[in-house]
Amino acid sequence: MRKVSKTILVTGGAGYIGSHVCIALLDAGLDVVVVDNLSNSNKASLERVQSICGRSLVFRHADIRNEEVIYDILRACGVTAVIHLAGLKAVGDSNVRPMTYYENNVLGTMRLVSAMKRAKVKTLVFSSSATVYGIPRYLPLDEKHPLGPTNPYGRTKLFIEEMLKDLYRSDDDWRIGNLRYFNPVGAHESGLVGEDPLGVPNNLLPFVAQVAIGRREKLLIWGNDYDTPDGTGIRDFIHVVDLASGHLSALRHLRQPGVLTVNLGTGNGSSVLEVIRTFEAVSGRSVPYEIGARRAGDVAICYADPTLAKQALCWKSTRSLKQMCADHWRWQLQNPNGYPGTELKVRGVVQACLPSRLSVRS
Ligand code: NAD
Ligand code: UD1
Repeated sequence: MRKVSKTILVTGGAGYIGSHVCIALLDAGLDVVVVDNLSNSNKASLERVQSICGRSLVFRHADIRNEEVIYDILRACGVTAVIHLAGLKAVGDSNVRPMTYYENNVLGTMRLVSAMKRAKVKTLVFSSSATVYGIPRYLPLDEKHPLGPTNPYGRTKLFIEEMLKDLYRSDDDWRIGNLRYFNPVGAHESGLVGEDPLGVPNNLLPFVAQVAIGRREKLLIWGNDYDTPDGTGIRDFIHVVDLASGHLSALRHLRQPGVLTVNLGTGNGSSVLEVIRTFEAVSGRSVPYEIGARRAGDVAICYADPTLAKQALCWKSTRSLKQMCADHWRWQLQNPNGYPGTELKVRGVVQACLPSRLSVRS
């Protein structure tokens, strides 16, 4: 197998997916530098990443929109490739503040890429999303499916993908991987690292977990009148640890200059009711729910054709829905209120109040 270049910059590395990507990289013997502005995360995640891996990483509290700072970090740390996860991701919020999303996600990526170009770092793995497909015209969704995101968040992902293709057309030294994630769920099997949403969770699994632990009274199922076997929506849930390993595979397989765009999904769909039942079985807790109206913008069914990832990256997911729920539950049980300090952040208390127990250099 091709050896991956050694020092990887992970933007957004303190976040949910980023922290699992850091574990995958450190476990593979790579050196890791994280840049995160902590707008939606907590440094405690990186402390735990290091204790799981028994290795340290470098943390820089910085914003990807600051090109000079990113350039300095790339040079000073001898970065050889970048995994770019930093971004804002809430669909509803992107409808309310579209310019904030374009500025953070699109402009942020432009600045990052400019810094990379100047530092002659030309290997980039980008966090895209299945949301770029919009309303499915056929299933499963393969990479040739027409693109048509239905909200500003999704459009930032599509614009970035297009921008990166133009970048490659202008300079064919670049190696770029656009990874279109389906629905990441679960947590590291240690229960130390997981998803820690600020405020009320938007996505299904974190909400279900918070109901199971008694933090919320019940789940509202957004519609049971879809054209699906049990009437509830079907999604391709993928274990975050499988997703993280897809990034390592992408780095290994970006052998030739070019742009590779691939789905990271399991190829299997599970309904909302199936998720609830599986979660109840693994947790031994009940998850009370009520049926509500459909959520605007939701589709009935969405799942991936993961064939290209298997062919091009030699990657496939291995973890079952049961394992996703079990690992998510372990994380929830061990961290009923998320990482230490997150509650302060939800209440608007600034980062400066957080305990600083980090061994990372910042
Ligand atoms: P997350 O919010 O947990 O992680 C994103 C991280 O980026 C956070 O730590 C945040 O503080 C940081 N960040 C945001 N803007 C920044 C900036 N300007 N400079 C530096 N850091 C910044 O989200 P996640 O779920 O880990 O998602 C990671 C990436 O994957 C995002 O780009 C997201 O759009 C994409 N994605 C996520 C999902 C999902 O369901 N979680 C699905 C598809 C794609
Ligand atoms: C959402 C985003 C999508 C993003 C994806 C992964 C919207 C419209 N879409 O998609 O852009 O890529 O997350 O982050 O926000 N559900 C409930 N009750 C809840 C929460 C969810 O019934 O409280 C249902 C939804 O209607 C859906 C399923 O659970 O059928 C999954 O929802 P969610 O986790 O939000 O993921 P997506 O809808 O796929």
